[in-house]
Amino acid sequence: MSILFDDTSKTITLHTRRTTYQMQLAPTGHLLHLYYGARSEGCFDYRLLPRDCGFSPNPYELRNDRAWSLDTLPQEYSGALCGDYRLVSVYPVAANGASGADLRHASHRIEPGKYTLDRLPAAFARDGEAETLTVTLRDAATGLRVELLYGVFAEADVIARAVRFTNDGDAPLRLEKAASVCLDLPFGDWELLHFHGRHCMERQPQRTPLMTGIQTVRSTRGMSSHQHNPFVILCDRETTEEHGLCYGVMPLWSGSHQTEVEVDQMGAARLVSGVCEEGFSWTLAPGETFEAPEALLVCTEDGLGDLSRRYHRFIFRNLCRSRFVGKPRPVLLNNWEATYFDFDADKLLALAREAKALGVDLLVLDDGWFGNRCDDNRALGDWFVNEAKLPGGLDPVIDAVNALGLKFGIWIEPEMVSEDSDLFRAHPDWALTVPNRAPTMGRNQLVLDMGRAEVVEYLYGVFSALLREHRIEYVKWDMNRSLSDVYSAALPPERQGEAAFRYVLGMYDLLRRLTEDFPDVRFEGCAGGGGRFDAGMLAFVPQIWCSDDSDAAERLTIQRGTSYGYPAASMGAHVSACPNHQTGRTVPLGTRAVAAMSGTFGYELDPARLTDAEKDEIRAQIRRFRALDALLQGGDYHRLAANERFTAWAIAAPDGSEALVSVVVTHTEANPRPLHLRLRGLDPDADYVLAEQAFFGCALPPGAESPGGADPARRYGGAQLLCGGWTLPALYGDYPSVQLHFKRV
Ligand code: DGJ
Repeated sequence: MSILFDDTSKTITLHTRRTTYQMQLAPTGHLLHLYYGARSEGCFDYRLLPRDCGFSPNPYELRNDRAWSLDTLPQEYSGALCGDYRLVSVYPVAANGASGADLRHASHRIEPGKYTLDRLPAAFARDGEAETLTVTLRDAATGLRVELLYGVFAEADVIARAVRFTNDGDAPLRLEKAASVCLDLPFGDWELLHFHGRHCMERQPQRTPLMTGIQTVRSTRGMSSHQHNPFVILCDRETTEEHGLCYGVMPLWSGSHQTEVEVDQMGAARLVSGVCEEGFSWTLAPGETFEAPEALLVCTEDGLGDLSRRYHRFIFRNLCRSRFVGKPRPVLLNNWEATYFDFDADKLLALAREAKALGVDLLVLDDGWFGNRCDDNRALGDWFVNEAKLPGGLDPVIDAVNALGLKFGIWIEPEMVSEDSDLFRAHPDWALTVPNRAPTMGRNQLVLDMGRAEVVEYLYGVFSALLREHRIEYVKWDMNRSLSDVYSAALPPERQGEAAFRYVLGMYDLLRRLTEDFPDVRFEGCAGGGGRFDAGMLAFVPQIWCSDDSDAAERLTIQRGTSYGYPAASMGAHVSACPNHQTGRTVPLGTRAVAAMSGTFGYELDPARLTDAEKDEIRAQIRRFRALDALLQGGDYHRLAANERFTAWAIAAPDGSEALVSVVVTHTEANPRPLHLRLRGLDPDADYVLAEQAFFGCALPPGAESPGGADPARRYGGAQLLCGGWTLPALYGDYPSVQLHFKRV
């Protein structure tokens, strides 16, 4: 049993293999949060020493006990307007105008298995590996029932949380805030690590000490966004990659989100995370229910690296439902950076022939194959093939590509519509626009109202026919603008605050139906690169295009930042042409492959422009990728270094049998200082050989035949390598790199 109720101490304790989470029913019925940390037994209420702090009020029945205040005690899920002045988790407003929530325990139950959610993505259990706790709280004044859901994955050390709200009253009720998680940490000195960025530079880690007051990380864009990823980490000031306490909060939500962290008057921290409050409200008619998105909690004492690896494993084992997880991955060539909109059947087939000769498995036809799509100003919504570019439709191209022995994939952007499209002319009200206001345009396109069932139904009809009628084995699902003008012609005035949330639900519905009905099609998520790289999407798709910045040097930091929460094998990454189209930088071809191999691996260039030597190199890269694919997907990811001179990471088999260490020199020095790195992921009790030491893009000093380096024939102890690290030979040139493949003997 991983969930225990102790009637004496009135505690509910959630145990995972290495962590313990505890809450307590107070005599008032309020639910206090007692502990979340390393696994241990016992009741943690001794840590709370209530005292009158002044101006912190008391529940009515404890009015003679001024020490007991919701304002100073840690709450499991904070109410509103009832004497706790810190962050609110839920904000209901009743029909009579009464607002706030005084949440009191009504019941709780413990059940085998993992709870499910109605229309939202949720983690799933295999073979009885999870238990569910449901704690029901009620607010008498508004009639709101709040069910706190906890799915405890003991082996994985993950706790999934979600919240279900039901109106038990006899009049409508409005939720103005409905968070997924409240996490009170009464003691500690915390830092917030979050992942910010912009288009072409997503998920840059930023770690800042918490200040007294409130810090907020949020997106109001209707998508999880390039700017602020919903995943955050709270860590102790001393926490490093390998040591120290940290908590991860990973929402399974792809829309506007917010995570707030407050440090209160007593130095206690409260984190509240969920759907973004701005623009959100939800009306619950009597008997109706609203579910807030799930979030995955991980806590570890073993540093940020351990936290990341727990998420990586969990996402592929317990979240993503795609049957492609762990399967050998096709090497693809995407025509976007090769041709942009300027292609026709002949060009595509020329690309396909070249791709085949390189050893590629799959040709992906990107944007521009439909309607009058000659540029990015038009035709979204007109999902019929552009016969001027592809005479006779898709089939002749697909057949020819298949005849070469390649699979065929296609790009779609279902959620959008161009003003200049037949779809918009037929259904102008299907676009999100505010009456009497010219809509804000993004990439000169509008956003479909995915909250409308008929829109989703229409899109399902279009795209299921596309996949049914053609031999398409891969779909890149793109989304190229932030939402604005979020007003739904289908909702009454009092429900307009639901439109953005309903948009995401509708998008999930379509994605779920298409991925379930076409399980043999590999789907890739995308939103102008990595604008919707989140765990909500990863519940459906095994991979997401990580960034529109395909420069390998920049990808090092983008992919490293992404790795804090998300698995390397989920990051769409391609080798592209140089000078790079986004930065103008030239990075050696080999180093470009080293970066792309830490993601899904593929190509995004015109092979006809390659020299014969480059083509040979690419053939070798593809052979190498195939040989390493199982390790790259199944291995544990270790961030080894990221400094002003080099970036290094390792992907190590969980059983310690092998590890691939990749190092890219980002700043080459004259008379260089030694390049020394620590190693991780090896078995200290085993012996290893350096089975391969592959250098890429290294300029050799005059007269030298190779950069040199360690003796491959020598045996090294695992402990020796872990403690002593590894010294690389001097690597010269721009962005040289090396991959070291250690194998157990
Ligand atoms: C944005 C994507 O991230 C690109 O890879 C490409 O598919 C374009 N959209 C096409 O419009």
